[in-house]
Amino acid sequence: MEYIEKDALLVKEMSEKAGRVLTACVTTFGCQMNARDSEKLRGMLSEMGYEIVDTEDADLVLYNTCTVRENANLKVYGRLGYLNTLKKKNPYMKIALCGCMMQEPEVVEKLKTSYKFVDLIFGTHNLYRFPELFYKALTEKGMTVEIWKDSKDIVEDLPKIRKYRFKSGVNIMFGCDNFCSYCIVPYVRGREKSRTSDDIISEIRDLASDGVVEVMLLGQNVNSYGKGLSEGLSFAGLLRKVEEVEGIERIRFMTSHPKDLSDELIDVMASSKKICDHLHLPLQSGSSRILKLMNRHYTKEDYLSLVDRIRCRMPDITLTTDIIVGFPGETEEDFEETMDVVKKVGYDSAFTFIYSKRTGTPAAKLPDQIPEDVIKVRFDRLLKEVQEKGALRSERFTGKTLPVLFEEINRQDDKLITGRLMNNSVVHVKGDHSLIGKILPVTLTECHGFYYMGEIA
Ligand code: 5AD
Ligand code: SF4
Repeated sequence: MEYIEKDALLVKEMSEKAGRVLTACVTTFGCQMNARDSEKLRGMLSEMGYEIVDTEDADLVLYNTCTVRENANLKVYGRLGYLNTLKKKNPYMKIALCGCMMQEPEVVEKLKTSYKFVDLIFGTHNLYRFPELFYKALTEKGMTVEIWKDSKDIVEDLPKIRKYRFKSGVNIMFGCDNFCSYCIVPYVRGREKSRTSDDIISEIRDLASDGVVEVMLLGQNVNSYGKGLSEGLSFAGLLRKVEEVEGIERIRFMTSHPKDLSDELIDVMASSKKICDHLHLPLQSGSSRILKLMNRHYTKEDYLSLVDRIRCRMPDITLTTDIIVGFPGETEEDFEETMDVVKKVGYDSAFTFIYSKRTGTPAAKLPDQIPEDVIKVRFDRLLKEVQEKGALRSERFTGKTLPVLFEEINRQDDKLITGRLMNNSVVHVKGDHSLIGKILPVTLTECHGFYYMGEIA
């Protein structure tokens, strides 16, 4: 990492001139994948000599962007204006942008013409080249821009600064080959590539020896893990290997595509004490007609029968989902099919999204985009149903004593500590810092819909 050292010299020089330690803030938009990438960026920045901070009045602000929906892009443009006002007051300040939004050529064009104060732009495939690109940005005039269309190899062993000492995300694969017709991810994250199980397990062993007790295996479609590798290991097989790592107590994963969820995976989950009893199973729509247009490769009936198979083996499992309202051509009948699935499945919670037209995706060219007022009515109905069902379902654990991993002091009340159950539900308990990172049994005394109050048993 010779460029990290070169950057460190420049940062030291600037720091001496400024008479203070320079600070850097990495702001993450979007998903867990981006959150993990940001930990790598913070790791590199820390090795360059920056003090990592959470506020944007810093000497380097790096936005790790998302573009899955249009409003994510709009948020970035809006906040860039504010960063420019900060930059005018601070001669040492640099502004850098990376992540999914930068993989869109129109975005980069717009930034080049109207946001000239940005110092550096790079994409999702060359994140590991950040130190070299940043060196260029520090030493050359004008905006440094480098975007790659795809990546061949996975670069291992980047430095990282974890947000939490006791839990960590672990990438098991990058990219996506599914091409759901509304989704921009395959275009900005490139083709699906799995890391070898050796690399994954060795990272998890290192994390365990560094105090991590919970890992979240990350991929756009974890159920197709292993495709393209010569190992012949399935995702369920990988989970079995992760289970064997000593010190790891909890294993989570994100995201499962219903079309690839195998009975082998259900078996492994049902028989494991470490794999969390939670499945995030994006439905997107309950209408088989819309699912076909979305290129999801399952029908309403397939999805419901999968849920039955899962519940048959794991009756108490927590199910969460993603649903899109207002996909082009969605009729009232189609929407009722979605409501029907929501009622039948009874999700513990659901992320509901208004369809956002993403240029370059097949769905953007479909006729019959749905008017906003129609979408709004459907969205509100769906949200109400999801929230009511979710609140009712949480009740089923009230009075039980279950293990909680304590994560942080409650932001509103510092006498409370907040943790999570195996199924990811939030629990608040009286307690202090000393509990952070520990797993203790807690009796869930009250259920407040989306969280519990509890007492250490
Ligand atoms: N519009 C709305 N929601 C979308 N998602 C992906 N693309 C779009 C889009 N164009 C949602 C899906 C996915 C989640 C991460 O984001 O529900 O599961
Ligand atoms: Fe997008 Fe579909 Fe891939 Fe998920 S599986 S990232 S929704 S294309």
